[in-house]
Amino acid sequence: MFEDGICEVVEGYYTKTIKFSDINYQIARRDEKENIFSKYCQFLNYFDASIPFQITINNRVINRDDFRDQMLLKNKEDNLKDFRDEYNVMLYEKSREGHNSVIREKYITFGTMAKDYEASKPLLSRLSMDILNNFKSLGCDTEELSGIQRLEILHGILNKDTDKLNFEYDYLVRSDLKTKDFIAPDSFDFRNKSTFEFGEKIGRVMYLKDLPPELSDKLLSELSDIPVNMTITLHINSVEQDKAFDLVKQKISFMEQQKIDEQKKAQKSGYDSDMIPYELKYSLAEAEELLDDLQNKNQRMFKATILIFTSANSDEELDENVYQILSTARKNNCKIGYLDYLQEEGLNSTLLLGHNFVEIQRTLTTASTAIFIPFTTQELFQKGGMYYGLNALSRNLIFFDRKTLKNANGFILGTPGSGKSFTAKREMVNVLLNTDDEVMIIDPESEYSYLVEGFGGEVINVSSASNVNINPLDITMNYADDEDPLSLKAEFILSLCELLIGGRNGITASEKTIIDRAVRLTYAPHFSNPKKYPVPTLVDFYEVLKKQPEQEAEAIALSLELYVKGSLGVFAKPTNIDINNRLVCFDIRDLGKQLRTMGMLIVLDQIWNRITQNRAIGKRTWIYMDEIYLLFQNEYSANFLFELYKRARKWGAIPTGITQNVEDLLISDLARRMLSNSDFIIMMNQATTDRLELAQLLNISNEQLGYVTNANEGQGLLFSGNSIIPFIDKFPTNTNLYRMMTTKPDEIRLDKDESYEKAL
Ligand SMILES: Nc1ncnc2c1ncn2[C@@H]1O[C@H](COP(=O)(O)OP(=O)(O)OP(=O)(O)O)[C@@H](O)[C@H]1O
Ligand SMILES: [Mg+2]
Repeated sequence: MFEDGICEVVEGYYTKTIKFSDINYQIARRDEKENIFSKYCQFLNYFDASIPFQITINNRVINRDDFRDQMLLKNKEDNLKDFRDEYNVMLYEKSREGHNSVIREKYITFGTMAKDYEASKPLLSRLSMDILNNFKSLGCDTEELSGIQRLEILHGILNKDTDKLNFEYDYLVRSDLKTKDFIAPDSFDFRNKSTFEFGEKIGRVMYLKDLPPELSDKLLSELSDIPVNMTITLHINSVEQDKAFDLVKQKISFMEQQKIDEQKKAQKSGYDSDMIPYELKYSLAEAEELLDDLQNKNQRMFKATILIFTSANSDEELDENVYQILSTARKNNCKIGYLDYLQEEGLNSTLLLGHNFVEIQRTLTTASTAIFIPFTTQELFQKGGMYYGLNALSRNLIFFDRKTLKNANGFILGTPGSGKSFTAKREMVNVLLNTDDEVMIIDPESEYSYLVEGFGGEVINVSSASNVNINPLDITMNYADDEDPLSLKAEFILSLCELLIGGRNGITASEKTIIDRAVRLTYAPHFSNPKKYPVPTLVDFYEVLKKQPEQEAEAIALSLELYVKGSLGVFAKPTNIDINNRLVCFDIRDLGKQLRTMGMLIVLDQIWNRITQNRAIGKRTWIYMDEIYLLFQNEYSANFLFELYKRARKWGAIPTGITQNVEDLLISDLARRMLSNSDFIIMMNQATTDRLELAQLLNISNEQLGYVTNANEGQGLLFSGNSIIPFIDKFPTNTNLYRMMTTKPDEIRLDKDESYEKAL
């Protein structure tokens, strides 16, 4: 095995392996399913007879240490240890709820003959490119594996779960050892008929023997759902079209001859000459159909070997594994045979080397090969990701890192009580426990303070009654990056004015011009000499407006008056809050209905200032905006939000809008655009009309819609990049974290639960 991932399997034969992610095939819409299937057929047809390939589905049962390593939150120097422990117990319990201890990975290994290693490189790299493109068009993520990665997989199959591969390519230079020596277990014993021992383990390789005439595409997916150590292998080699014809024709003429013999026999015995054995009749029909497929239906012929390898620590465990595999096959009308006296060949063919040592092959057409489609359900499991519940289909943990998305902006949508806020809080908890990022919340319903205080965050009560002041005219120099900061600010003030002036037609063109001018005039002194002139306030803006000659200016000033001079002065004075906590919640409930939207906008702008500062020190900021539909109720605030969402990525911000009013959201064109451009959406239970609209907007299949129809709290669909994953989360209610996250009044108690304490 070379360092770049090329392996010389037998002399002159070189292979490479590509890992590919799953896509949602089993729950895809019918037309989508057909589309995937036909693309997969095309993909199979791409391989000619000189390129044998092997598809592998590798199920690994992970051990506790691995699990801890990959998923549990690492402790940090802060005072959140208790929460981290509680969260980790939760994760651990969840992982045992389903098949989660199984990691399922899929690979394709392909090879070519070449003069030597150097000569194989360009050949393989061209193949590799084509294969990657094919997978891409199917929607899979792919990764070409390096030598170390390939060795790790082989090592994993051949050794105990706890053993780690200890190998670096430098080791080869200093010794006579080969890469093989580093992955092999201590011993192999192949003396038994249908099992073999390796290291301290025992294994069995089986093969798919009989296929029913109508095989369903579920076989592979159901097999791979079995939560045991198992490797499913498909060795596929295309047959040259000429040879395929010859083969079939030969077979047909052989059977024709047999038929004539049978007819003669029947006549002799005095029966009707049509009396030929059913088997023969059937085979002949099948062969004729095959010939027709090859000639007319863009089908090719393949030779395929399908192997299933499972391993265990004891005979009993192995029997149990085998039993599960056999019964799943039986359910699909397939028969499985043991590879008697061929266990070694079986094992070698199972390893991801791209070489088939077993000569039991079946002849299949493209379509019948494609029935063994390796796609089932997409899993979302990223190292270093955050917990988002269990995959409702596979019951596997969903671990996902929003920061890996091109655009991490997101939405959480659902009917009241479906668990939106809870989902947001769970994500925040994860951010707080596992990163150094900041979390800013706009909280119109006063739902988050309990959690925020519990985590030592700061709750800022924005209301006319509190003595908090926020100046909407605050501006930092890098407010708008390379663009003119004043333009963005003017945009913002416009949206504010529109809220204040309201009216059905919003702001007129001339009003817009006046406001824009007034904004620039208001900031002029500050920008000319920031030391002498502090940041202006709404009062200054008001004064500037009053000085403008137009009548409209007077009118705008008048509508501002209440906020500048009246009792609602929260936003008229210099800001007197100082955000120096990584977790801040702006509670705007007490602003009342009238001011809430405005409050939301101003707070959002304030948070934007914070983001610009955070970016300067390389810190990321998560923003949560509950009841975000408020901002979409008028054009300018929607626009402001839209601009923020657009800029967020560049600024290291991760905004999440939350709303139960999907209908209101869907009325706004901007909101629709934002939704369809968001790489991250969590959809909880939906009302009927919203559901149908969303389905159209986001391309959701009926099967998928089922997960947001009468769904329980904490259940729904997770959209991330290209994937749509049904999830389910039941956060344990006997935890302090739950008590801090719930909004059910009778559950908000902080008394500790004995049983959970013990589990820690
Ligand atoms: N993942 C979960 N695990 C356990 N319980 C949950 C989960 N999600 C929600 N719940 C329960 O459902 C209740 C309602 O959830 P939540 O407050 O998040 O609803 P919501 O969608 O924000 O509603 P609203 O639109 O009224 O704000 C929570 O208080 C909690 O008790
Ligand atoms: Mg809520």
